[in-house]
Amino acid sequence: MLHKLGLIFFFLHVALFAEARNRLAPKKFETLPLGSVRPAGWLYDQLQVQTDGLAGHMHEFYDLVSKSDWIGGDSYYSYLEEAGSYWFNAMVPNGILVNNSVINEKAQEFLDYVLDHQDETGWLGPEVGTDKPRFLWGRYPFFFGAIQMVEYDPSQTDRVVSAFHKFVKIANEMLRKGEGVDKWAATRWEDFVLVLQWLHDYHPRGQEELLVDTMVRLKWTGVPWEKVFSEEYFPTGPVENLTNPFGMELSWHGVNMAEGLKALPATYRFTHNQSDLDAANLSWDLMFKYHGRPSGAYAADEMLAGLEAVRGTELCLVVEAMFSGSYLYQVIGDLKYADRVERMTYNALPATLTADMWGRQYLQQQNQIAAKNMTPNPFPEDGPYSNVFGLEPNYPCCTVNFPQGWPKFITSAFLKTIDDRSLVHLYLGPFSTTATLKDDNAVKVTVETLYPFGDTLKTTITAEKDFNYFVRIPSWVVEGTIAIGDGPKKKLAPDQETGLHKVDVKKGVTMLTLELPAEITIEKRLHGSVAVHRGPLNYAFDIGRTEQIIKTDPRESHAVDWQYDPAENWEYAIDPSSLVYHHDSDISVSGILPSPIFDSGMPPTSITASACLINWPLAGDTFASSPPENPECVGPETVITLWPFGATKLRISEFPVVSFGEVVLEDTPYLQFPLQSL
Ligand SMILES: *[C@@H]1O[C@H](CO)[C@@H](O)[C@H](O)[C@H]1NC(C)=O
Ligand SMILES: *[C@@H]1O[C@H](CO)[C@@H](O)[C@H](O)[C@H]1NC(C)=O
Ligand SMILES: *[C@@H]1O[C@H](CO)[C@@H](O)[C@H](O)[C@H]1NC(C)=O
Ligand SMILES: *[C@@H]1O[C@H](CO)[C@@H](O)[C@H](O)[C@H]1NC(C)=O
Repeated sequence: MLHKLGLIFFFLHVALFAEARNRLAPKKFETLPLGSVRPAGWLYDQLQVQTDGLAGHMHEFYDLVSKSDWIGGDSYYSYLEEAGSYWFNAMVPNGILVNNSVINEKAQEFLDYVLDHQDETGWLGPEVGTDKPRFLWGRYPFFFGAIQMVEYDPSQTDRVVSAFHKFVKIANEMLRKGEGVDKWAATRWEDFVLVLQWLHDYHPRGQEELLVDTMVRLKWTGVPWEKVFSEEYFPTGPVENLTNPFGMELSWHGVNMAEGLKALPATYRFTHNQSDLDAANLSWDLMFKYHGRPSGAYAADEMLAGLEAVRGTELCLVVEAMFSGSYLYQVIGDLKYADRVERMTYNALPATLTADMWGRQYLQQQNQIAAKNMTPNPFPEDGPYSNVFGLEPNYPCCTVNFPQGWPKFITSAFLKTIDDRSLVHLYLGPFSTTATLKDDNAVKVTVETLYPFGDTLKTTITAEKDFNYFVRIPSWVVEGTIAIGDGPKKKLAPDQETGLHKVDVKKGVTMLTLELPAEITIEKRLHGSVAVHRGPLNYAFDIGRTEQIIKTDPRESHAVDWQYDPAENWEYAIDPSSLVYHHDSDISVSGILPSPIFDSGMPPTSITASACLINWPLAGDTFASSPPENPECVGPETVITLWPFGATKLRISEFPVVSFGEVVLEDTPYLQFPLQSL
């Protein structure tokens, strides 16, 4: 009898242990389905500009995504595999958020084609019916796109989820046999883990064990990100002359690392291991301490590139790091992720696209005095054409991948708490959001603001029931206030960790007015230079430019490559004690900004600085040498205007420093900001 009881306990224990092992640790916050968060005001305009530009038209002419046999065909094989998948991931939300029926139909056609061509083994993708080798990675962006379609249109759930589960089976078998993992799948495994976690969270169909087993196998056949991002191994400067300790060069590849930033929070969900959260936290800090840019992004001109202002930041890296930062916040809830995503979105993303979004760079530079074919160039592992604005400079990947940037930022801007009771306004800007919270609490929120080109947010909330509304207060806000209805202005009291300020909202209509002022802050950069910020925006000297078309695509007259040359002196040093912020007060909260906003002279905010010309030599023909230390003026003291970085296409953003007044630089209060905090 005792013996029998013991056996029963034994099996019970095994069963409970297995169940615990197959459970996922919860995220802190959950996203809302595609379509719930919509852009308004200037942000809607920005997405419309993207739709009217290259993103919304490439399916009409750009071979990589315009062929009718999207996932068949042999030419451009390596790109065709990923190009359609990237396009789909971006254009599903883009099409829905601007309600563009042509793009929505195209996306549906793509989904149908891929699902209809799943073979009997469960494989999805261009290798169906061919003898091409099967590698897992190219499908992952497609999965993200399909998840968004299901969120928007639940009637497609069964079809998509069934196809996914079939695919998971074959993927798991392949991993058991050591198949399917090439060097890209080895670095980008975390994207598949996110897809498996979505299935596990919402549509497990009793397959929890297989799903978790597949997550574990992906991790252990892939790059060990916790080691790559460790104090011991992390490269503290450019990597071109270093030997990768893991024999995996691609673990120092900028875009892979941007995707890899989500690997550790994703791992935590199936290991439940605090060490994975600690490693995630460290990975973020190491990345930006040693490679961070005033634009919010980091430098990797193919491989990690350190802190010099002429090294490059790849566009794909910007949009992938934005997406990873959003996921990090959802899992961990640390304010620093959200603050930085906002910086990247409002600086690095628009800076590297032409204002009309028909042209994009492959690499942007923090100090960029020309955008042209350059020999020599400052990028050891990318070509001379990398900073030209055009259809597909250097590699085509960013042409098909960049359009995910704005739409995914928008869909991540509102979250709900994991208990489904509260709504969180995470990224600040103009939005209109609807959600149904627990107990059928239908909530609608509209936010009117010019942010980041203004400090005031007017939020109107309509709710069926009382609930808690949270709004993120960025770390740079100084003496912010909130007023409810016609009530008095009150000091903000955000939670230290999450940065969220809680508002008890009663059923009915509630109006909130937030004032979020910020001070000018100065960031120390290499060679004694400085970068200038206010709020989320980095401010740069916008070098007047001459523009010349150097190539026109025969299929589409808007698809041109632009060469930009400086049309004025740019060799300025500034006095950081002289900075003054200016805001065009004629434009009210609900006012209309110029469109497109991210171009020279367009934003309503600027900063003036006392400056003088100095001797600042070129390195190569078309890029600047490092900012000179302790420079002397060679021209008179003058005043220059700095503009939001995203609106500049040629610029200086890391300035040498001079002093005109009595203020000793070391004593200016601004200079105390450590690099990491920005
Ligand atoms: C989208 O556009 C169609 C007409 O093309 C219209 O019927 C529909 O209401 C629009 N949807 C939204 C959410 O605006
Ligand atoms: C890498 O080596 C080359 C050739 O010796 C040298 O010119 C370059 O400065 C080195 N780069 C770094 C970051 O040390
Ligand atoms: C949890 O983390 C510790 C310390 O890094 C490690 O030794 C252990 O293997 C991890 N456990 C799992 C399940 O990953
Ligand atoms: C994250 O790491 C930094 C050091 O890089 C540390 O100061 C901070 O306390 C950590 N944050 C959390 C939430 O563990």
